[in-house]
Amino acid sequence: MSVQVHLQAWKDEVEQATRRLLDPSLMPERLFQSMTYSLEAGGKRIRPALLYAVLDTYGRPRALGHEAAVALEMVHTYSLIHDDLPAMDDDDVRRGRPTNHRQFDEATAILAGDALLTDAFYLMARADLEATKIVALITRFSEAAGSAGMVGGQLDDMLAEKRSGVTLSALQSIHERKTGALLVYALEAGAILADASEADRQALARFGKHLGVAFQIQDDILDVEGDEALIGKRVGSDEGNDKATYPKLLGLDGAKEALEREVSESKAALAELSVDAPRLRELLDFVVRRNH
Ligand code: IPE
Ligand code: IPE
Ligand code: MG
Ligand code: MG
Ligand code: MG
Repeated sequence: MSVQVHLQAWKDEVEQATRRLLDPSLMPERLFQSMTYSLEAGGKRIRPALLYAVLDTYGRPRALGHEAAVALEMVHTYSLIHDDLPAMDDDDVRRGRPTNHRQFDEATAILAGDALLTDAFYLMARADLEATKIVALITRFSEAAGSAGMVGGQLDDMLAEKRSGVTLSALQSIHERKTGALLVYALEAGAILADASEADRQALARFGKHLGVAFQIQDDILDVEGDEALIGKRVGSDEGNDKATYPKLLGLDGAKEALEREVSESKAALAELSVDAPRLRELLDFVVRRNH
């Protein structure tokens, strides 16, 4: 079976679980509309795919991961809604549709993001798992999504705009946090749920760290030479905002070389796992060769 078939299966799992687990009954209708507008707009569902792929790798049922997978996609979607706001990247197309604040309004978009973030943790707290596992998952999730991870990386990304002299190591650190942290967490969540050994958990985290940087380098490259119809966002957004990106720092060829180096590191980490992981190898290849 090809990676496309597996990706579709993981995507179906998380999208069905999302419909089951989101409860519109207790919230204002407009809030639910705004949240689901962005959640259901599609997206590659790479973070849930990584989590389910780890469960598949250890032969554990995917059902163990539904709450964590949905929560991951909720937090990721919130990060995109806020990332697109005028005060941040000021973008008007996302996942092939008008961005949330364009479709609704800024206040609704901010609050839909707030609700997706907060409700993700409410969902995790109520998962049908042992309490120690829930605490372990929430601890790593909040660390990855918060100031030490994604949010911190987003702030440094904003501060690096329009600046000359951003070093490669500073840019790498931004990419590791704004994008890598949630991808690493997806793999670690799979490891926690599958009862993987500590050594495997560390190897998966290393795999994810390099995959995460590679993922964002490819996102930067697609912002230069991608096809708007495929990526579902405007090309040239980074140049318009004078963002610090790999192509800006190293040129397109340099960015592609840096991406290949991250792929090699990522593969090396995967080779240290105690089990063979063809699904994860395929996902890495997909992530870095993708055109969307
Ligand atoms: C876009 O993420 C933002 C980054 C972290 C690079 P994705 O490329 O995973 O976006 P969707 O979920 O497929 O829309
Ligand atoms: C955003 O990086 C990473 C997030 C945490 C949302 P980008 O700003 O490059 O993501 P896109 O290109 O808008 O999806
Ligand atoms: Mg951004
Ligand atoms: Mg952006
Ligand atoms: Mg981008």
